[in-house]
Amino acid sequence: MTLLSRIERAWWRDAVTYQIYIRSFADGNGDGIGDIEGIRSRLPYLKSLGVDAIWITPWYPSPQNDHGYDVANYMDIEPMYGTLEDAQRLIDETHQHGMKLIVDIVPNHSSDQHVWFQEALRSPIGSPARERYIFRDGKGENGELPPNNWQSVFGGPAWHRLTDADGNPEQWYLHLFAVEQPDFNWDNPEVRSHFEEILRFWLDRGVDGFRIDVAHALMKYPGLPDLLSTEELEAHGEFLPDHLRPTWDQEGVHEIYRAWRKILNSYPGDRMAVAEAWVSPASRIARYLRPDELANSFNFDFLTSLWEPKYLKGMINRAVDAMAEVGAPPSWVFNNHDVTRSVDRFDLGLQNRQVNTFERQGDPTKFDIERGTRRARAGALLMLALPGGAYIYQGEELAVPEVRDIPEDRLTDPIWKMSGYKDRGRDGCRVPIAWKSSPEGAFGFSSNNALTPAEAWLPQSPWWGSYSVQSQVGVKGSTHSLYSQALTIRKSESGLGDGPMEWIDAGPDVIAFSRPGNFACYVNFGAAIAIPHGAEILISSVDIVDGQIPTDCTVWLRLG
Ligand code: NOJ
Repeated sequence: MTLLSRIERAWWRDAVTYQIYIRSFADGNGDGIGDIEGIRSRLPYLKSLGVDAIWITPWYPSPQNDHGYDVANYMDIEPMYGTLEDAQRLIDETHQHGMKLIVDIVPNHSSDQHVWFQEALRSPIGSPARERYIFRDGKGENGELPPNNWQSVFGGPAWHRLTDADGNPEQWYLHLFAVEQPDFNWDNPEVRSHFEEILRFWLDRGVDGFRIDVAHALMKYPGLPDLLSTEELEAHGEFLPDHLRPTWDQEGVHEIYRAWRKILNSYPGDRMAVAEAWVSPASRIARYLRPDELANSFNFDFLTSLWEPKYLKGMINRAVDAMAEVGAPPSWVFNNHDVTRSVDRFDLGLQNRQVNTFERQGDPTKFDIERGTRRARAGALLMLALPGGAYIYQGEELAVPEVRDIPEDRLTDPIWKMSGYKDRGRDGCRVPIAWKSSPEGAFGFSSNNALTPAEAWLPQSPWWGSYSVQSQVGVKGSTHSLYSQALTIRKSESGLGDGPMEWIDAGPDVIAFSRPGNFACYVNFGAAIAIPHGAEILISSVDIVDGQIPTDCTVWLRLG
């Protein structure tokens, strides 16, 4: 296969995409909640950081039980974020800045306030309105037991029982996430055509792509069989057949994405979709990226990875090989709005286990923030040198740590309640960005100067201003400078982004590889090592003294 140059190939094969968690990025109307106008006002920041695209988390009308992932109307804008006209202006201005814009689409479930679900509640059992969701009779003598043993991802049973107008209990409905997020029935052609209409609605407005929420969950195994216990499943090995993982990664999802690909292809300009598919091993991810399916799928292995060379190298190998099989580029991601920040994760060896706060955030008494920051910075240069594209999450370019001190009465993630108050959930990685170091306007997050940090929708702690944009832009040695310099180099190095890589053997404590153009990336996890003879340093995650790469440091080199 001949390799196209970066100009010739589709933009998403190389793109660095910046994830905007809309509630927490920038507040343009002064209500303490981020919005479209806030994003628009910060487009120059994003452009000068050097990202190629932005992805905006759901901006549709929503009761915000899961902060927008509970959509009440897929073809409009949440009033607290703006209007459809504002969205259009943002799409156009993003393009004028030479960047692409991706929206989030949430096809597995809607809000319980969606007109379809409301209609289903009013409609009789077995009616077409109920067929758009997954309603079932309960088990037990009086239907008092849920239809099966499935659990919600957020905790507790995945079924909720309804009561009729007279207060009598009746059917149950499925919600793999919050109670307010009923799952759609994707066996119903009406659901399929509704989402195809939604895709066209946004494509007509010029969006460049979609991030597909829980892309692997849409189809459920027929008959909705009980899930086996973890022990029983382990006995079956790594490759479970569809009926043993009845809620995830069913063969039937691929037909949906083949239809979506046709729609994307019917528009000019390499429109794309990226799957949020928590499936493994990497060969299962690759199935979503076959040439007639989607463009990208997040490689979540980094989100569950230890800061350990053998582990990381194996994971990179598996992802690169699996994507090559289907001709797709890998897509790396270190942070997003669902996981503990990489500064904490890489220091404490957190693997995104979500059973309680301790598992999620680790032992705070063991946390060495300096070491965590070094590792997160080294990880960033590793990620940006690997083949394919990368997704970075707002605040990552400022090396913000996880916020552990949000008062309990201010926690908003449904996980907090649904876990029986055992798991603080994901609010700690969603605190509104500090644009300024001083507290006015919630550290510059809000256009309302009178707003205090505690009044932002998620409170900002007093120390938050030390991670401000203001304190880092143009400042030598800051993490912002590291990202922006790395992104500049990435643009000028034609061997970076999509394309081949070759491992360099530099010992068991080092991950090293080359890319075309005599480019090399060295990540050192052990005792200091010497820079290869004659190599020129392009960038390093910490200062290089006496030609030695210290521990937890990445360097980009031009080999001699
Ligand atoms: C994945 C999203 O990233 C997460 O934030 C959300 O809670 C679930 N999907 C449910 O939509």
